[in-house]
Amino acid sequence: MYRPVRVPSTSRFLNPCVVCFIVVTVVVILAVTVALLVHFLSFDQKSYFYHSNFQIRNVNYSNQLTSPATQEYKILCGKIESVITESFRKSNLRNQFIRAYVARLRQEGSDVIADIVMKFRFTRSYRGATLKNRIEPILRQAVNNFGNLEVNPSPDLTSITVQDAANIFTSECGAGPDLMTLSEERIIGGTKAEEGDWPWQVSLQRNNMHVCGGSLIGSTWILTAAHCFRSSSNPRQWIVAFGLSTISPTMRIRVRRIVVHGNYDPSTRENDIALMQLERRVSFTRNIHTVCLPVATQNILPGSTAYVTGWGSQEYGGNTVTELEQVRVRILSNNVCNAPTSYNGAILPGMLCAGLPSGGADACQGDSGGPLVQEDSRRLWFVVGIVSWGFQCGLPDRPGVYTRVTTYRDWINQQTGI
Ligand code: ARG
Repeated sequence: MYRPVRVPSTSRFLNPCVVCFIVVTVVVILAVTVALLVHFLSFDQKSYFYHSNFQIRNVNYSNQLTSPATQEYKILCGKIESVITESFRKSNLRNQFIRAYVARLRQEGSDVIADIVMKFRFTRSYRGATLKNRIEPILRQAVNNFGNLEVNPSPDLTSITVQDAANIFTSECGAGPDLMTLSEERIIGGTKAEEGDWPWQVSLQRNNMHVCGGSLIGSTWILTAAHCFRSSSNPRQWIVAFGLSTISPTMRIRVRRIVVHGNYDPSTRENDIALMQLERRVSFTRNIHTVCLPVATQNILPGSTAYVTGWGSQEYGGNTVTELEQVRVRILSNNVCNAPTSYNGAILPGMLCAGLPSGGADACQGDSGGPLVQEDSRRLWFVVGIVSWGFQCGLPDRPGVYTRVTTYRDWINQQTGI
């Protein structure tokens, strides 16, 4: 019977294919291991946050330093930040240093304490203690470079979590989500806002229905428009809702008192400003905290960028929306806004116009009372306008008209102490 002859394999162990396979496998495993090692040792960087406070002896804590809106505050913080930054830029940590920021100025006796948050990027393999030992001498050296600022010679330095850093920022006004983590400037695109983008924005509601927007300016105070209360100024009929969504807010607070400007004039819309005092204090979080108020003398520059946010309708006559929206606009001078082809003289000194020359970007019905905000050079957000009125929405030469917050800065202070 026929049997196929078995071809004996030349050598089971030296089959070139097998050898090739083994070699390739070993090389691949080695390469992957080396790549992973290199990655984790040098490229896998992690952010580290440090907190320090500088006690400044020869600067008196005056009224000028109580608000981040004042020139004095900005200059002092700017000076501290630039000296620290320079020290690190010149040091051997220049590639690891990201940013130093004065998150808060506070008073201790007659001294000023500056709370400083610093961000570094190190590879993961670094040890915390080593980091601290490398940062400390550079910080101490910075202190010697302050010149006319008398600072305690050895400032303390503590490693903090990103959450601790955020907590320091949320206790002060105007911090956006990018500032809280000392991150790159945020690109605000599209129209839908994300959680924590505009942490001061509130929805003023009656019978669970959104009526107007507002801004949190203190732990118990909301800034809004007077015309929101034409239907009712009874605090018991109102509720303040926090969070992105008007239908499922993250928090609701009752209203104790409504203060409408005594000279609000519905026919001219002059003095369209009001305040709401809340029943209880708001405890600030990453996603709920205050916006800064500008000083009365602050110049709001025509041509500068601003953002308006709210749940207002997307077209004139449309319905309000349930998720918070944002839009970028530009400030216009009152002169341009009063041109015969525009509002023809209806813009009073206590008003402020913002929009785009071709239209298309504007607040609309339901946005009233909400904030028009601008970011300053230290990346803090200020409420410069309150959504007040406009001819329809988004038309060319018919920009949005806002209550000019600087005009009413003293009035706000008289009513709230803020
Ligand atoms: N008065 C409107 C309101 O009650 C706000 C109108 C704003 N209009 C505008 N085109 N910017 O919601």
